[in-house]
Amino acid sequence: MNALLEAQGLSLRFGRVRALDDVAIAIWPGEVLAVVGESGSGKSTLLRVLSGQQRPEAGIIRFDGTDIHEAGEAALRRLSRTDWGFVHQNPRDGLRMAISAGGNIGERLMSNGARHYGDIRAQAKDWLARVEIDPARIDELPRNFSGGMQQRLQIARTLVTRPRLVFMDEPTGGLDVSVQAKLLDMLRALARDLSLAIIIVTHDIAAARLLAHRIVVMRHGQVVEEGLTDRVLDDPQHPYTQLLVSSVLAA
Ligand SMILES: Nc1ncnc2c1ncn2[C@@H]1O[C@H](COP(=O)(O)OP(=O)(O)OP(=O)(O)O)[C@@H](O)[C@H]1O
Ligand SMILES: [Mg+2]
Repeated sequence: MNALLEAQGLSLRFGRVRALDDVAIAIWPGEVLAVVGESGSGKSTLLRVLSGQQRPEAGIIRFDGTDIHEAGEAALRRLSRTDWGFVHQNPRDGLRMAISAGGNIGERLMSNGARHYGDIRAQAKDWLARVEIDPARIDELPRNFSGGMQQRLQIARTLVTRPRLVFMDEPTGGLDVSVQAKLLDMLRALARDLSLAIIIVTHDIAAARLLAHRIVVMRHGQVVEEGLTDRVLDDPQHPYTQLLVSSVLAA
């Protein structure tokens, strides 16, 4: 089986900071990959670069075997609309707060060519139910929703077009612990049911253990360790990973 997304030699500096330093990474169809590491280790930069939002100074990124930058801007924009999804830490960055919940879901469908109002509304209702938002609230603005609901709406908006790969940067970051747990359970079920590949950035080792098949550990812009989740967390090899795992156990 070929990798869905594969990158090699990614490097990017901001002034003297090496945000990415010769990073290689791959994700397979249906796989959940967690990227962990301390603040400033380059996790968000890696997601932005992998998803084509920022160009690396060096390196190559292939999706489905095709170089995402070689294919041109239009092709990259089409990927972002279709095969890729992006879930932001702050739902405000991924939602349009001035349009209804149903509109938020429908907009993504329409940008992929859906035109039939009844179908769009039916799919929006279906997705609201899937993320456990009462479909009767379809015409409400997202600002009436709690943080957890907004995040679930952002997930519905992202998944309605059935992307194959979803990038998530700390999707549970701003939420209460109990709300986080519920959202993680939901993400796990959706990933499994839809065979989604997910690259999720998190500093929450427990979330990584729950969701991810594989873990990549970053430090100072480099991947210092990677492997199957249980192996990395139960038998960390790199001193930095050992510190990361033990500091969680001690907390
Ligand atoms: N646009 C930018 N301009 C200047 N420096 C940047 C920019 N984006 C990131 N950096 C720097 O690159 C390094 C990596 O940042 P990045 O945001 O990728 O880290 P992170 O692992 O996501 O951290 P956090 O856990 O705090 O979100 C940091 O030193 C950061 O200050
Ligand atoms: Mg970040």
